[in-house]
Amino acid sequence: MVENSFPAGFLWGGAVAAHQLEGAWQAGGKGVSVADVMTAGENGVPREITKGVVAGKNYPNHDAIDFYGHYKEDIALFAEMGFKCFRTSIAWTRIFPNGDEAEPNEAGLKFYDDLFAECHKYGIEPVVTLAHFEMPWHLVEKYHGFGNRKTIDFFVRFATTCFKRYRNQVKYWMTFNEIDNQAAFNNDFSMATNSGLLLDNDSDNEAEMYQAAHYEVVASALAVKEGKRINPDFMIGTMINYTPAYPASSAPADVLMAQRVNQRRFWFSDVQVWGEYPREVETYIQRRGFRPDITEEDRIVLKEGTVDYVGFSYYQSMTVSAKKGDVDQITDPMDIVVENPYLESSDWDWPIDPIGLRYGLNDLTDRYHLPLFIVENGLGAVDQVEANGEIHDPYRIDYLRKHLEEVRKAVTLDGVDLMGYTPWGCIDLVSAGTGQMSKRYGFIYVDKDDDGNGSLARSRKDSFYWYQKVIKTNGADL
Ligand code: BG6
Repeated sequence: MVENSFPAGFLWGGAVAAHQLEGAWQAGGKGVSVADVMTAGENGVPREITKGVVAGKNYPNHDAIDFYGHYKEDIALFAEMGFKCFRTSIAWTRIFPNGDEAEPNEAGLKFYDDLFAECHKYGIEPVVTLAHFEMPWHLVEKYHGFGNRKTIDFFVRFATTCFKRYRNQVKYWMTFNEIDNQAAFNNDFSMATNSGLLLDNDSDNEAEMYQAAHYEVVASALAVKEGKRINPDFMIGTMINYTPAYPASSAPADVLMAQRVNQRRFWFSDVQVWGEYPREVETYIQRRGFRPDITEEDRIVLKEGTVDYVGFSYYQSMTVSAKKGDVDQITDPMDIVVENPYLESSDWDWPIDPIGLRYGLNDLTDRYHLPLFIVENGLGAVDQVEANGEIHDPYRIDYLRKHLEEVRKAVTLDGVDLMGYTPWGCIDLVSAGTGQMSKRYGFIYVDKDDDGNGSLARSRKDSFYWYQKVIKTNGADL
């Protein structure tokens, strides 16, 4: 048994994203975001991305859990658990409702002034993602999102506005949430939420992704440069969805295939950390003729705007087989995924792999030589409220405990430099992938169902008290 060894000042907390909990989708002049045009789906039934808000459809993010109206109560509950930090995003459409305005929306800025002040009241450090699946819908429709170089300027204006306004309230930032999701470029959700791209049958999804993602890494680098100018003490990170590809067997062909898939997912953060494209992807892009618009100036900017730390989500690993594709032709990694017989899965079919988190912490340390921050991890599960109002969620505690045990080993035995841990959906919120409320991650239960019914009352689950103890003992008592 390893003794308590999380470093002093370790940032224990929780993570959310504006569009998944704030609701109030039109309050204070907020504009429509890409998340506001996504209907509810379910496991195996993708969310529909409609062309604007269509009357009669169910858009779960519109009202979500009304964090906008409940944030004081919710932050008090986070403080009761002992949070040292709270990761959220700034809804781009509260600040620039359409995305291409010259001046920001004061009411939106004021909301985050109040929110961050409320955090600091309890000594909770805000950790802020600038773009978490929330691009203004207007930018999607009019400019084709990051398919257009102009969107770089719109993003940088938004980022700069936030950096200036909150320069003394927020120290920890991330530019784009899970920028690597779009490696699965045939997935409509990933393409719309990462880059604001709506693809149809005529699109060459892969080509569009490489061009748009290039503009996105340039936008990120420019934002980092601006941020450091505004406050040199800022810590600005990348944020990736770390889902390592394992080989299906020890056959060298499988091992090579897994390496190739990892290269295709890693290149986004490689560019953000190293300031240049890795050779494999650079060669692939050139060979395929993707990304025609890249300038020398872009390459300089990428070098100048590298990140300070690597934020990442970790939910699962994936396993790939060379039998499912040609290693020199693979395009969409999702085409070659196979089941891992050693792992159990969640009710939403996500493989559960705590050891993969220790593997990842070492993998990312070796690759990037930067501090790491686990900014998402958790189990989406159905919770049952007992007649007496209690919510017993031993499955969630078990999941988090097993992952934290691996984290602790990575920190104490392997020497990983880890800044903090913010489990996902610390309060129940709308699932990004399915739009469901019933896929719950929280320590705090919110009374709302998939049809939008419920009192919105908040209650503490068993995991609330467990996590409170974990924080209080700085991870000694898991
Ligand atoms: C991450 C996202 O992909 O996973 C979150 O950053 C998301 O926005 C989380 O909610 C869990 O996924 P889901 O689909 O269960 O909500």
